[in-house]
Amino acid sequence: MDKQDLVTKGFLDVEIDSKVDFVSEINKLKKEKNAIVLAHFYQTGDIQDVADFIGDSLALSQKAAETDADMIVFAGVHFMAETAKMLSPQKKVLLPDLLAGCSLADSCPASDFAEFVAKHPDHTVVTYINTTAAIKALTDITCTSSNAREIIENLPLETKIIFAPDRNLGNYISGVTGREMVLWDGACHVHQEFSLERILALKKEHPDSKILAHPECRKAVLLVSDFVGSTSAILNFSKKDDGKKYIVATESGILHQMTKDSPEKIFIPAPPEDSTCGCNDCNYMKLNTLKKLYVCMKYELPEIVMDEDLRKKALRPIQRMLDISAKLGL
Ligand code: 13P
Ligand code: SF4
Repeated sequence: MDKQDLVTKGFLDVEIDSKVDFVSEINKLKKEKNAIVLAHFYQTGDIQDVADFIGDSLALSQKAAETDADMIVFAGVHFMAETAKMLSPQKKVLLPDLLAGCSLADSCPASDFAEFVAKHPDHTVVTYINTTAAIKALTDITCTSSNAREIIENLPLETKIIFAPDRNLGNYISGVTGREMVLWDGACHVHQEFSLERILALKKEHPDSKILAHPECRKAVLLVSDFVGSTSAILNFSKKDDGKKYIVATESGILHQMTKDSPEKIFIPAPPEDSTCGCNDCNYMKLNTLKKLYVCMKYELPEIVMDEDLRKKALRPIQRMLDISAKLGL
């Protein structure tokens, strides 16, 4: 085992016998180590299938807070594993590839955001969970795409609000709640890239389809969508709706559960502007592989380690979000 790999590659690069059956070894390691594997809907299908729990960012943080496992293996991106560590500091939290970051979190550097907050001293700071711990430490209340509307509506009408970092989600929530908010100008490179023209061309080809979109998409895409919601909301809609065909404007990993839950329905990934880039796949989410998951569980590396003072500061807005969500039954 060469820990130096973690610095340069983000994961442990060890030789593995080609005959190793990753799925059965991962299942064995789960039992041996009392470990739970949490996976986001954007992970590859093989990782979702071996996970103990698959969910959106709200459900995953709720699960991380309540699990009695000794080890949380997070098949997702860094801010998600970091949130799990904040909620369960006594547990070992692992991320198969430390370089699994998030362009949306990167679009909000802490020093710039601190200046922005200082310019609006009488504002309540609401930030999306897709942020670093340093941003959460500057936040009054966290939200996810599943509860952003309710979190904003829960604030007294006279509250002045800063919403960060996603401008598309912020605009959308401002529209549905009628609340004015000062927005940070950030975006996710995957959701920002969906092409309105190409989505409309697909719709023309499949007039019987419905367009489902994540609120991180641009306003023009949301305006032509039949349903807008978080990954789990999109998934639930596709299960309950009586339609047969859907154009899905979010990261393509979600299609795995959609197809599993409704094998008789047709799901078409929404195309990005550039037809050659494959950028409806999140390159960060897709850094995790079954092999890295296995190696990470076997060697218990890479581990999320946090400064305790920062952890406590960053935990406050997450705990507030979880308390409100529990009160509202979300
Ligand atoms: P949800 O999991 O809240 O749907 O958000 C998706 C996302 O962007 C995760 O990176
Ligand atoms: Fe971040 Fe976008 Fe990837 Fe989600 S899809 S992890 S918001 S870069």
